[in-house]
Amino acid sequence: MARIGVYGGTFNPIHNTHIEIAKAALVQFDLDIVYFLVAGAPPHKDTADKISDINRLEMVRLALKGEDCLALDDREIYRAGKSYSYITFTEYNKEHPDDEIFFIMGSDSLINFKNWVKPDIISEFATVLVAPRLGDDFESLEKAIHECKNMFVGDFMLIDYKANGLSSSEIRKSFYKDLSIKGYVKPNVAEYIIEHNLYSDYSYTNADIVRLDNEMKKELKPSRYVHTLGVASTAYDLAIKWNYPAVTAQVAGMLHDCAKCISDEKRISVCEKNNITITDIERKYPHLLHGKVGAHYCKSKYDVFDEQIAHAIAVHTTGCPNMNLLDKIIFVADYIEPGRDKQPRLDVIRYTAFNDLDLCVYLILEDSVNYLNSNPDMVDPTTIETFEYYKKYMEER
Ligand SMILES: [Fe+2]
Ligand SMILES: [Fe+2]
Repeated sequence: MARIGVYGGTFNPIHNTHIEIAKAALVQFDLDIVYFLVAGAPPHKDTADKISDINRLEMVRLALKGEDCLALDDREIYRAGKSYSYITFTEYNKEHPDDEIFFIMGSDSLINFKNWVKPDIISEFATVLVAPRLGDDFESLEKAIHECKNMFVGDFMLIDYKANGLSSSEIRKSFYKDLSIKGYVKPNVAEYIIEHNLYSDYSYTNADIVRLDNEMKKELKPSRYVHTLGVASTAYDLAIKWNYPAVTAQVAGMLHDCAKCISDEKRISVCEKNNITITDIERKYPHLLHGKVGAHYCKSKYDVFDEQIAHAIAVHTTGCPNMNLLDKIIFVADYIEPGRDKQPRLDVIRYTAFNDLDLCVYLILEDSVNYLNSNPDMVDPTTIETFEYYKKYMEER
């Protein structure tokens, strides 16, 4: 007979205290395994600060890498309709008829437990283990446990753990404001949060897309406008594939060429007035500046303040070494949008964009360098530097 722990939560994001609680329960209750049950759309919790369910799932997957006896349970994410815990524990009971099931929940959940849907079924199938939270008043916690014991058939026990970390909501609120916050989540989770632009101060909706669409229709030549729509929708699709906030990517696509249809003199003067560096090759071919000027226009003209969007636009023509996820999405979308038909091996590159983004970036750079080599004096050294970076990266990975 196995002893199975099931730790339910939204894990938005998963942090070190979650892992420590699971480990404390493993030891104290002699459990064989603890499953992290990532909640779908929980009916009893408000959905403020909602990020995509898949991102929460991915962060848990990363946090559990290399941890013995801790595993992921993603069933609630994929279940249709509202996700009730009693359904999950009924399933666990059927799947493990001879095993003992333990349901690990935070003390805040316990206080509200009697208001859950069918709590009697949950407590019949699982012993509830309560994880104390920072600042808990132990007397009222003991009282709540006692009340539950009287009200329901199963057992309720306290995990012997002293909470000392931060809550998920504090991590969400201050992740980018306080460098020390990164230490409260695993390094690979912190990297994931930054790479996927989670908990940013800025989020976008379809209303932003409609507004920017109108602006671009006025600002761009018709063919450039059609290209822009292609890049925006391709960026949206790539973002879904690679778990990036899709509308944020779509906004970046919408604006990526916003400085393409202005004069060279205007591009130079915007750079000079705003202390934007102009390289020798950019001075010779000022159209190359449309990325940098576009990044500047995001904030000054189009009220788009997300730094990742500005960066992706700034580097979209040449790429740059070690591009972040949005940089790559825009760089690739610009090359493969449906209106493109001149580049070689487009079918392979389009396929690769949805299967191996880094390889796709490398293939595009390889073709760009080949193409530019036939016009040597037009080669932007950044393109070469980026190509060399990804060539080495592909050889070493
Ligand atoms: Fe461009
Ligand atoms: Fe473009």
